[in-house]
Amino acid sequence: MSIFPASDANWWRQAVVYQIYPRSFADANGDGLGDIAGITSRADYLQQLGVDAVWLSPFYPSELADGGYDVADYRNVDPRLGSLADFDKMLSALHSRDIRVIVDIVPNHTSDQHEWFQAALKAGRGSPERDRYIFREGKGPNGDEIPSDWVASFGGPSWTRVEDGQWYLHNFAPQQPDLNWSNPDVRADFVKTIRFWADRGVDGFRIDVAHMLVKDLSMDPLPTKEELDAIPVDGNHPMWDRDEVQDVYAQWRAVFNEYDPPRMAVAEAWVASDRVPRYANPHSLGQSFNFDLLEADFDAVQFRRIVTHNLSLAAGSGSSSTWVLSNHDVVRHPTRYGLPNPARRADGKPAIKHGQEWLQRDPDGPVLQREQGLRRARAATTFILGLPGSTYIYQGEELGLHEVYELDSSERQDPTFFRTHGEEVGRDGCRVPLPWTASGTSHGFGANGSHFPQPDWFGKYSVETEEGDLESPLRMYRSALALRKQLETSETMEWIETGRDDVLAFERPNGWKVVTNFGTEPYAYATDTVALSSEPVFVENGKVEIPGETTVWIAG
Ligand code: NOJ
Repeated sequence: MSIFPASDANWWRQAVVYQIYPRSFADANGDGLGDIAGITSRADYLQQLGVDAVWLSPFYPSELADGGYDVADYRNVDPRLGSLADFDKMLSALHSRDIRVIVDIVPNHTSDQHEWFQAALKAGRGSPERDRYIFREGKGPNGDEIPSDWVASFGGPSWTRVEDGQWYLHNFAPQQPDLNWSNPDVRADFVKTIRFWADRGVDGFRIDVAHMLVKDLSMDPLPTKEELDAIPVDGNHPMWDRDEVQDVYAQWRAVFNEYDPPRMAVAEAWVASDRVPRYANPHSLGQSFNFDLLEADFDAVQFRRIVTHNLSLAAGSGSSSTWVLSNHDVVRHPTRYGLPNPARRADGKPAIKHGQEWLQRDPDGPVLQREQGLRRARAATTFILGLPGSTYIYQGEELGLHEVYELDSSERQDPTFFRTHGEEVGRDGCRVPLPWTASGTSHGFGANGSHFPQPDWFGKYSVETEEGDLESPLRMYRSALALRKQLETSETMEWIETGRDDVLAFERPNGWKVVTNFGTEPYAYATDTVALSSEPVFVENGKVEIPGETTVWIAG
């Protein structure tokens, strides 16, 4: 058995982290919902893929009003997904394969089924129980007018009225009441939760909406939505990215550092890039997602700007950069790249969230170019995997999965769909259970079907099919992850001028080079040491001819 390198405090800096959305990964008990034992059963797959860590989206007890991001008990496992004993087994199965485990902490809001919220409802206005949340009287003589016209993240109002007439704030669904981070119980309880999982042996934490916890809603009346949106987000905004949120993370950092190795944390903070270093530094959470590439087109100029900017931000704050092309909240990147470039609808909404409605509903809209989208995705993925920093990959992207936009309204689960009355279909299309086998019940996901139907084309992208195809996305990811180990000795790179605006090339200090042709005209590069390519390439007379929308790695 390999020895788990427990004392490496810097393991996360250049790690490849694989995001598991547990309810859609693998279903061991045949109830249609993925579970913890399902993850354990696929530990060999993860090891063979070559990932350094997995990040598990929430697996805690939840009524699933928001796919598990409505947590009813932070220190337990949803009985439909298993038990704490199953969690421990999974942890040791992954650790014994040198794979670290990151769990998701959701501190901005609980589920309305959480015992605290239930107690708050019973205890009534002015009680200590209500003070753990953000309750407020309504406007108007009887308080029956909503405290403000703010719109929640999934649509609909941000306030819901309870039986005795008070209103509570929820920045997301009504089943996700916002916590009051000025309340000491709240602060103490999350420290307890962090210790609980760190004591069990988890290696790190992903912090949900890390920029929102602390709020100042002392003004009366509250600003309107328009006024709120106009307030600069500079540390003093009533709701977003307040400077005081760093006090919470300084306290957590002290707790993380009590462990050996210190626990890592990565912030999901949707803040302007100049404010990212506040989260991504050794005194705070340490690392932060960089979502710039989610919003970028498949475009060399945009990629170069984003890479340069984020590497310099990370270096300046003592962090390492992160690269993300897909996650459980956005349209999968082969689909985004299969839409016209720039991937924007006429109304300006970005394709990361809205590519699906565009494809589904606009008869004059674009046709998804599946093959081109996947080709570009392969090129973009091998480009980012060659960069210094850590890469977060989302389950199924190693299979080249496209978004499933065929889901029927009756099959939808995302609160976005319900709260916008179907106006926006939401994020279900990237959460359909993985195809493990080419055919059979739920493509090997579980013995009795799956909680989302899988489309006919899933078999072609299954693990079983791709295992047997040397050119498949799965084989490409495996090769890239294995070769990448040779690049992880340093955290720097230098751009190489290519003479073309649509071709990017960079060199790592060990002499390895990555060249990506974002254009369509082939590009010739002098080398005879091609180590990897996202499409088949030909090397002749000391030159590689790189076709359009293709990346090559060149050994040093
Ligand atoms: C961000 C998570 O990634 C998303 O899935 C969730 O809906 C919101 N935070 C609310 O928790």
